[in-house]
Amino acid sequence: MTSSFPKVRIGIIGMGIGRYNARAFASNPRSEVVALCDLDEAAMQDFTTELATTPHHFTDYKEICACSDVDAIFVGTPNKLHAPVSLEAIKNDKHVLLTKPIADSEEAAAKLVQVAEASGVVNMMSLSTRYDSPCQHLGQLVREGFFGETYYARSRSSRRSGIPDWNLGYITDGGGAFRDMGVHALDAVWWLLGMPKAISATGVSGAKFGPKGLGYWDFNQPDAKYYSQFSADDYAGGFIRFANGTGLQIESFYASHQAPTAEIQIELFGTEAGAQLSPLTLYQTVNGAPQDTTITLPQNLPTSWENIAEHFISCILDGTTCDAPFNHGWQIQQMLEAVLESARTGKEVRIA
Ligand SMILES: NC(=O)c1ccc[n+]([C@@H]2O[C@H](COP(=O)([O-])OP(=O)(O)OC[C@H]3O[C@@H](n4cnc5c(N)ncnc54)[C@H](O)[C@@H]3O)[C@@H](O)[C@H]2O)c1
Repeated sequence: MTSSFPKVRIGIIGMGIGRYNARAFASNPRSEVVALCDLDEAAMQDFTTELATTPHHFTDYKEICACSDVDAIFVGTPNKLHAPVSLEAIKNDKHVLLTKPIADSEEAAAKLVQVAEASGVVNMMSLSTRYDSPCQHLGQLVREGFFGETYYARSRSSRRSGIPDWNLGYITDGGGAFRDMGVHALDAVWWLLGMPKAISATGVSGAKFGPKGLGYWDFNQPDAKYYSQFSADDYAGGFIRFANGTGLQIESFYASHQAPTAEIQIELFGTEAGAQLSPLTLYQTVNGAPQDTTITLPQNLPTSWENIAEHFISCILDGTTCDAPFNHGWQIQQMLEAVLESARTGKEVRIA
């Protein structure tokens, strides 16, 4: 869709992760942050001091979605509100950039994709791991054929003590380690693998720390009023099989006893070469001997938030085809929910 306005006027809903996305829009010459929305007026006031603009403030997401000064909305609310808020934005003809996961259930995700695709507005997922430079670098190598056939992968998100202690949305139904952080590990590796069609999943999940008040962010001990409401998973692991024969081992730990490790780690296995994401390393066999190459990327590359903002703006202003549409978020959600369903039922789950 080509637009007549020179700058995309962005409204930001949610002053948590919304701040990171908003900073990227504020620093992009082709967008400006014109409106904020949060239940907490003080949070909006606090963030406004960072901006060169003077944005409108709203406490009702329906009002920011209806605001005629806004062309596009970033949705950064807790998971349960992702679908309702995005639907409201689409109803008002606003382009939508949505944080992960796409929704708190597969049904909500499916409906959102259907409405978004029928609407004609740009719909994009804000995916900070996929759009981070190391992952983009690997993706470029994959597309150039450097790895040959990529036939297997392992991907995980790991924390020693990282259960969020600031938002019940993370620890109650619709949240959990797998939907919160597993989604990054799964989306990034699926994208690297060329987005194959998933056909089945098997998995285990549970909560070993959260309900006991253990494993919270930086070893903090939250109030029992908070952690007694824990009803999600604090770990999940599974295996996903794809129609092209590729296999993927996927894990997410909010809390765990294990060696210090990168928060997101991906290992790719190809016929010509392999790789790990962190530190970015390529594995090859050259003249019959192993050759491992650690890649150091330039320091001054854009952040993932800047990459996301730039692509979203380009989809709106230049008509660029969106490379992270809601449809991707839905396919990821189907895989996530299949692993969690397998954990509940003890059976392999087919993915339609
Ligand atoms: N790397 C990433 O992409 C990344 C990182 C962190 C969080 N997230 C996602 O962002 C979402 C929010 O997480 P967070 O850590 O920013 O949480 P947070 O609690 O820090 O911020 C959420 C904000 O939304 C506001 N809010 C809640 N209900 C609202 C409503 N009805 N209308 C307007 N505002 C409302 C809250 O007041 C709060 O300020 C989650 O879905 C999470 O998965 C993504």
